[in-house]
Amino acid sequence: MALKIIIANWKMNPLTIKEVEVFLKNFKLFNFRNVEVIICPPFPFLYLFGKTKSKKIKLGAQNISSEISGAYTGEVSASMVSNLKASHVILGHSECRARGETDQDINKKILIALKYNLTSILCLGEKERDERGDFLSFVESQLKNCLLGVPKNKINQIIFAYEPIWAIGKDSKREATVEEFIEMKIFIKKIISNLYDVKTAEQIKIIYGGSVSPENAQIFVKEGKADGLLVGRDSLNIERFKQIITNSI
Ligand code: PGA
Repeated sequence: MALKIIIANWKMNPLTIKEVEVFLKNFKLFNFRNVEVIICPPFPFLYLFGKTKSKKIKLGAQNISSEISGAYTGEVSASMVSNLKASHVILGHSECRARGETDQDINKKILIALKYNLTSILCLGEKERDERGDFLSFVESQLKNCLLGVPKNKINQIIFAYEPIWAIGKDSKREATVEEFIEMKIFIKKIISNLYDVKTAEQIKIIYGGSVSPENAQIFVKEGKADGLLVGRDSLNIERFKQIITNSI
């Protein structure tokens, strides 16, 4: 059975090294199986995970530059995060898109991630759902633009995260329903099957993100058959995060 993928997106938290160390110490004592846990801390804390040598946790970055190296003040390259033992990178998060990141930037980043053997966690999702279904064409164009030039044999190095923007963060009114997730999952597979082929579409991994909690984790994984979850604020609360993992098995 394929492992469920549980990803922690810590965003710009926590604020101190001490807090990361406390998390790591606590997490080391937590036993779980059949789940792949990927923690994505802020860039300056990546090295702390490399030091722990914990085989239980995989490491992800929250972004990379769309350039390989050079005069790009403030940017962090794929090679740098890979040197710090990151195996994954979140790309196209709506909070980065809101700061100006375009599908074209994300496409460049995916191609660079492939070059450095990083698995991309590609975030897709609409701002709002309209009755005419325009949100579907919005997600379709995100997907098509971001995958330009990605060869079929590299699709398994991309995890597709459906994260409707309206479901993200503490100000959101609700998470998606399991039906909304399933509908989008089928839609994404249909696009992949048109872009590549049915076999490729069957193999891709699609996870859900947006107000994931211990209370709803199981519904998405069991009823929605999500391949995993992308967790924001509840990944910072260690007890709630552990509960999410336990409930996803
Ligand atoms: P949330 O964030 O779980 O706090 O809604 C999810 C995300 O932005 O990845």
